[in-house]
Amino acid sequence: MIQTSQNFYTAVENRRSIYGISKEAVISDDRIEEIVAKAIKHAPSAYNSQSGRAVILLGANHDKLWNITEAALKEKVPAENFKPTEEKMAGFRNGYGTILFFEDQTVVKSLQEKFPSYQERMPDYSLQSSGMLQYIVWAALEVEGFGASLQHYNPIIDEAVQTIWGIPENWRLMSQIPFGKPTAGPREKQYNSVEERMKVFK
Ligand SMILES: Cc1cc2nc3c(=O)[nH]c(=O)nc-3n(C[C@H](O)[C@H](O)[C@H](O)COP(=O)(O)O)c2cc1C
Repeated sequence: MIQTSQNFYTAVENRRSIYGISKEAVISDDRIEEIVAKAIKHAPSAYNSQSGRAVILLGANHDKLWNITEAALKEKVPAENFKPTEEKMAGFRNGYGTILFFEDQTVVKSLQEKFPSYQERMPDYSLQSSGMLQYIVWAALEVEGFGASLQHYNPIIDEAVQTIWGIPENWRLMSQIPFGKPTAGPREKQYNSVEERMKVFK
């Protein structure tokens, strides 16, 4: 729940990439479902196309995701360099759950057919819509007391994910957000000058 000390602006400020996570529950599984459902329902999308999709993996399903990711990486990373990758996978697997984000390509294609003069832009709009959905969930997990990070092991895990969890073929995997009770704070972050990144005309 958003407390008065965790308003929108503090949530924006406090959302960080948290890699040290444990399997300890912070909120109920029902509440996790509720916050993801809220994000799916209320996230904006191009032409209100609602192209975003999400899959919540908890318990053994969460562990399985990081097992298949580790197996996929093992095929790519030379054995002598695999240790850091193995540790990274163990770090994610240590968490409580993972949210998978997809964009439904059927929706994107139908928008392209409906608005032919903007068809080249639709994939960009889909990415932007997905980013908004991902961000809402990431910030919401932080508000609820979890730590989370944003990962991209697609496309190497796409096929296995589709097969294991029966994901429709037209859902394109965009990202993975592993989360859990924070066991370590965020890494130090350098902030570039906001003045150089923002212009105001008044
Ligand atoms: C589009 C996008 C892609 C990212 N991809 C990854 C990723 O694949 N792995 C990862 O650990 N972090 C990823 N990040 C997280 C960034 O590295 C992180 O947000 C940035 O360094 C700022 O740190 P903070 O999240 O703690 O504020 C990504 C962030 C964005 C917005």
